[in-house]
Amino acid sequence: MDCGITELGYVRFGVSDLAEWQEMIETLIGLEVFKEEEGSLFVRSDDHHHRFELVEDASDDLLTAGFRVAGVDEFEQIQGLLRTANVPFEAGNQELAAQRRVLDLVTLEDPAGNPLEIFHGPQVDAHKPFYPSRRMFGKFVTGDGGAGHMILKHAGLDQTYEFYRMLGMRGSVEYKFPLPDGGVADVLFMHCNSRDHTVAFGLPSKKRINHLMIEVDNLDDVFMTHELVQASQYPVQVSLGKHANDHMFSFYFTTPSGWQIEIGYAGRPATHQSEYYTRDTYGHEFNRS
Ligand SMILES: [Fe+2]
Repeated sequence: MDCGITELGYVRFGVSDLAEWQEMIETLIGLEVFKEEEGSLFVRSDDHHHRFELVEDASDDLLTAGFRVAGVDEFEQIQGLLRTANVPFEAGNQELAAQRRVLDLVTLEDPAGNPLEIFHGPQVDAHKPFYPSRRMFGKFVTGDGGAGHMILKHAGLDQTYEFYRMLGMRGSVEYKFPLPDGGVADVLFMHCNSRDHTVAFGLPSKKRINHLMIEVDNLDDVFMTHELVQASQYPVQVSLGKHANDHMFSFYFTTPSGWQIEIGYAGRPATHQSEYYTRDTYGHEFNRS
């Protein structure tokens, strides 16, 4: 569908300790952090004004997932789709649009109550190239694929599929994980661009967010970040390994807010025809300690 979501444009997180987050990002990940107002930090991974915003908030969870559509026409069309599907949404005013650094937006919730914003026209600061907060071998991968991907909580995979399909995404269950009790855990992956998935659902999470994936274009940055994380107070939650679906070579560590960040390299797009896996290619051992 031409009028659908094109990328995960920005994400806002509530964090209880802004200073700890800033230090973690600047020493471990290398994203650019800057402050424009009290109680909030902007985080960049490319030349957009920001890709992430950290807001001082005790939730330590996802505050808003910002999904982009291409332009004015697509923005009008997707509001028509929401009306047809009887999904309640609110038009954002100019004050909110200015806060988000976008031309226009609407606010809504997905079936699980995850707060979403659909927008067009992000502020791109072409005059202000990305400047990493620590040494990097390469850079972060955004471009056509947007800011990254997230796994979020869901309220049933069928209605989750219907909702994100309505917004223009495609996808399917890509993993059926055997469970110790003999059952099977299905994980649903939805894509809208060059990433295998932009959102996925089905991993257990007490919070709205299970993890955020940020991609780098140089394998050395995965290993350097991994070494820095191992020497830090933040535990590696999933060891180095390769996913069977998006081919991402990655590891996961626990953020100061308790959810995970995945640092990935060499992800591939979704397969043209759906397929599923029962385990990863190698590695990705879960830390149960
Ligand atoms: Fe991931």
